[in-house]
Amino acid sequence: MQSAGCYRVTMDRLETSARLMIVSDLDHTMVDHHDPENLSLLRFNALWESSYRHDSLLVFSTGRSPTLYKQLRKEKPMLSPDITIMSVGTEITYGVSMVPDEGWVEVLNQRWDRNIVVEETSKFPELKLQSETEQRPHKVSFYVDKDNAQEVTKALSEKLANRGLDVKIIYSGGMDLDILPQGAGKGQALAYLLQKFKEEGKPPKNTLVCGDSGNDAELFSIPEVHGVMVSNAQEELLQWHAENAKNIPKIIHASERCAGGIIQAIGHFGLGPNTSPRDVAETADSHLEDAGPAHEVVKFNLFYERWRRAEVEHCETYIASLKASCHPAGSFVHPSGVEQRLHESISAMKKIYGDRQGKQYRVWVDRVLPSKISSDTWLVKFVKWELLGEEQQSCICTAVLTFEVVNGLHLYTWAHLHETWSEGSGAKDNGMWLL
Ligand code: GLC
Ligand code: MG
Repeated sequence: MQSAGCYRVTMDRLETSARLMIVSDLDHTMVDHHDPENLSLLRFNALWESSYRHDSLLVFSTGRSPTLYKQLRKEKPMLSPDITIMSVGTEITYGVSMVPDEGWVEVLNQRWDRNIVVEETSKFPELKLQSETEQRPHKVSFYVDKDNAQEVTKALSEKLANRGLDVKIIYSGGMDLDILPQGAGKGQALAYLLQKFKEEGKPPKNTLVCGDSGNDAELFSIPEVHGVMVSNAQEELLQWHAENAKNIPKIIHASERCAGGIIQAIGHFGLGPNTSPRDVAETADSHLEDAGPAHEVVKFNLFYERWRRAEVEHCETYIASLKASCHPAGSFVHPSGVEQRLHESISAMKKIYGDRQGKQYRVWVDRVLPSKISSDTWLVKFVKWELLGEEQQSCICTAVLTFEVVNGLHLYTWAHLHETWSEGSGAKDNGMWLL
């Protein structure tokens, strides 16, 4: 049972219940297609990795098929979720290798016959078939005008019921019409996951669902979850809310767009830290702040981005302070295999100050997982991503950080950093990937 195995690996990372499980839609919720700088997404990423990754679960729930989901990941600075729910809750996969949940497929096969759906829908000229990639084993998708949507939905459900099928028809974004088995959908997929966690005695302590359009409505009807409709939510979702969930205090309509609304909801419901490291200005003594090793890794890489974008002052104090946070004998293994002292790499940073100024250049870390290997040492594994223009590169990193407690604060020292290219990555010019 490969899928049970992968479920195990994903879930066993957490010995107890997840502190927070975020279940978020992607297009126009986690990802703002109107912000070419992806600022709210990057703010969310930094917050998640510095404060939540180690004891919480990130679930993406999208209408996209695996093909279009993978495409989006290449275009936008996204994190790797623990669980990916695709094709409007009809496909659930675990981990980075995206191992499918076979049990869920069994559930969806009940009273579903794809061929009948295709046959009956072909009789409606108002329905325009979506691309081949979006037609999935338990999802048949069309485009239909707003004006025709309600009428077509009604007529179609009658036809399909007469043919003995039990289907769900969902209208989203004022243009997409999806036909799924009745037991499918984003809400049902979440209910299935929550049930799985409960059976293991690990229900998440808190769950926050996030969405913007019609296919997200179901997420908000799952009992016991907090919900945020982002400020830019579609009419059909707001209407569903007004009719079905108006006075439920666990659901809010954020005043901020997309991932900004998710951060806002974390604060509103008091689900944990809600200040993204990206919202904190750089200061030379910012290490005098008590936080964990994951936070240290996020901050270090954020500084690196800001330095190359010339968003921090060009002053020696920064370099001196960075050096002070590295062990003098500490080494750095570059993904090309070249090894040097961490201090040398930091000195080399002087030459690249502002070399990415005015460019579309971003650095973010993903899957930051610290483990304590002795009383004063952390081993931190993470993935470091760089985006330059349209291109993304990533490296698998392992860092060894020691710490001491000074005046009640944890001060970290980098003892070692080892990087290897991720599959498919590799700089054309190794010199450009400095640290
Ligand atoms: C995504 C899918 C599409 C679906 C829509 C609404 O855009 O690619 O097939 O119709 O979400 O669920
Ligand atoms: Mg959406």
